[in-house]
Amino acid sequence: MSATARKQAPNAEDIRARKGGEPLVSLTAYTTPMAQFMDAHCDFVLVGDSVGMVLHGLKSTLSVTMEMMILHGQAVARGLSSAMMVIDMPFASYEEGPQQAFRNAARLMAETGAGAVKLEGGVEMAETIRFLVKRGIPVMAHIGLTPQSINTLGGYKVQGRDAQADSVLADAKAVTDAGAFSVVLEKVPQTLADQITAEIAIPTIGIGASADCDGQILVVDDMLGFFTAFKPKFVKRYADLGEQAESAIAEYAADVRARSFPAAEHVFADTTPAKGNKK
Ligand code: KIV
Repeated sequence: MSATARKQAPNAEDIRARKGGEPLVSLTAYTTPMAQFMDAHCDFVLVGDSVGMVLHGLKSTLSVTMEMMILHGQAVARGLSSAMMVIDMPFASYEEGPQQAFRNAARLMAETGAGAVKLEGGVEMAETIRFLVKRGIPVMAHIGLTPQSINTLGGYKVQGRDAQADSVLADAKAVTDAGAFSVVLEKVPQTLADQITAEIAIPTIGIGASADCDGQILVVDDMLGFFTAFKPKFVKRYADLGEQAESAIAEYAADVRARSFPAAEHVFADTTPAKGNKK
């Protein structure tokens, strides 16, 4: 069923069942109004730890905290009724081991109402994913470029070229076997993304991967042109709202300095208006 015809938000098993079907549509969101704009159009909305970079001006996602994720998760939840909400586990909230991951994943879900968590990592996270799924926490995995590991990956580089391809394929198989209901493939070569999509049984969600993934995700502030510090090659700008916002603010500033705002229609008369007249 397409997102526009749907009434109830899908759950993790509904998303899993979309393997090979109509492409899954997803964006990140961090606030109530943005979640409301995308609710009818997305199958799931990700409260991404990209919030640290696009809304809080952080240099990377590494210093995003559980408290930030919970605050933004609660805001997004208020704006959704027909899309599923998935929430990112922030750096250092799950890597110590399955118990730490369970404690923090359960807290994220309980305090925000998210239907699943997303965490970064492949083979090395399989045990943790298995532990969470067996205890009732649906997990979306994230492999390829994993931004929480930029310091060991040497930056925001494509992952899985040439000799690296086997290790990304092994990650995809490991998270599938561990019980993840879907997997984000970030910045992997198109042919490798297509091979993974063909070889694993769960939906692949591409970001800088391939149009033939089972779904796509983008950071909303990238695709709307609000985040302009840099633009990855995989981002398509669907609007330039940052430019529009700046020119609207410049116009307002000029109006205030020229005393042309507020105008007559924005101010109040000193006599009580007649009944029915709200001026
Ligand atoms: O945090 C995020 O926005 C993400 C997406 C890029 C998939 O993980």
